[in-house]
Amino acid sequence: MQQSTVELSRVNLAHNIKTFQKLIRETNPSGLFCAVVKSNAYGHGILEIATMSIESGAQVMGVNTPEEATAIRAIHKNIPILIMGDVPNLLQRSQELSDSNYWILVSRYDEWKFLAGLNPRPKIHIKVDTGMGRLGSFGKELEAILEKGKSNSFPLEGIATHFASTEDFTEHSYSQMQLKKFHEAIDLAKSIGYNNLIKHCAASASSLLFEDARMDMIRVGISLYGLWPSMETKLSMSLMNRPSAILKPVLEWKTKIQHIRNLPAGSYVGYGSTYKTTYPSIVGIVPVGYYEGLDRKLSNNGYMLVRGERARILGRICMNMTMLDLTHIPEAKIGEEVTIIGESDKEYLGADTISSWTGTINYETVTKILPLLPRRIVE
Ligand SMILES: Cc1ncc(COP(=O)(O)O)c(C=O)c1O
Repeated sequence: MQQSTVELSRVNLAHNIKTFQKLIRETNPSGLFCAVVKSNAYGHGILEIATMSIESGAQVMGVNTPEEATAIRAIHKNIPILIMGDVPNLLQRSQELSDSNYWILVSRYDEWKFLAGLNPRPKIHIKVDTGMGRLGSFGKELEAILEKGKSNSFPLEGIATHFASTEDFTEHSYSQMQLKKFHEAIDLAKSIGYNNLIKHCAASASSLLFEDARMDMIRVGISLYGLWPSMETKLSMSLMNRPSAILKPVLEWKTKIQHIRNLPAGSYVGYGSTYKTTYPSIVGIVPVGYYEGLDRKLSNNGYMLVRGERARILGRICMNMTMLDLTHIPEAKIGEEVTIIGESDKEYLGADTISSWTGTINYETVTKILPLLPRRIVE
């Protein structure tokens, strides 16, 4: 018996891609859709999601590391891959990064110089820090890098920035300030002689909310997977009188009942004896724990679904097991399906709900799912 399986809906993924392609094409008919598949496609499965996204029309894959790019390149020979993270030891990776369909974000002159000298040479995009305080540069620092690059005739294909807090507020002056600074950086690049750059800054929330942020390409992560970046994003859509988008979750996470116990009232369940039955209880054991990606904060604090009913998590989440109260579902049997995320007989348990129980964001809840678990594409 497989311990647990991540099921991926091909049609829901295609639906989400189509939704965002419509958005970008509304503002730029030749605008590109970049599917952000970094971090094992936010826990969904990088190769499965990359392949299905390409089949559904995604033109660029967004990753964090060269290792992720290499994994995609092994099966998709020509798809442009945008490497967005800061690459450790970049200057020693000539072989790995010599790919004319890699698009690499650079923050520093030494990186640019190195990449410009590769053969084949990747496309180079300069990163602008407009308020994230992370990668990139701005103002005099950016100007110095661009001037130096120009004086050495280094090529440049794109310019990018990233919003810091679009997801966190319904008041968007900070994002608007970032957008203004990005335009300043684009103008600066132009004045130095870098024209016709591919300009990109919008992730999921900013693609949904700001038409003028979509530019030449949108880089969509969380909503590619059918999840909202936040409640504030949803609320902002309505406050800004935008028609709400329909996003369809791509992932379901299922396991099976491995064992069932009948415990008398007064029995303890799990490590630390943090749960004591107060009635004769049927306890189901499922083979999923914090190693597999369940948040330990779900201990005595969450549910899974069995036969469309919520089965409460009893005691502490173990490394590889979790105990569920099945007393009100006495017909449940060993081997029967348990839904950790997804639908069960018309009841739905989403990553958002689980995240509200554990005090985190849906991004983290899905990204934590163990990459080793099997991924199954559901047609
Ligand atoms: C540079 C960059 N662009 C785009 C994204 C996608 O963001 P989201 O998942 O909010 O769409 C990320 C995600 O972290 C990112 O780091």
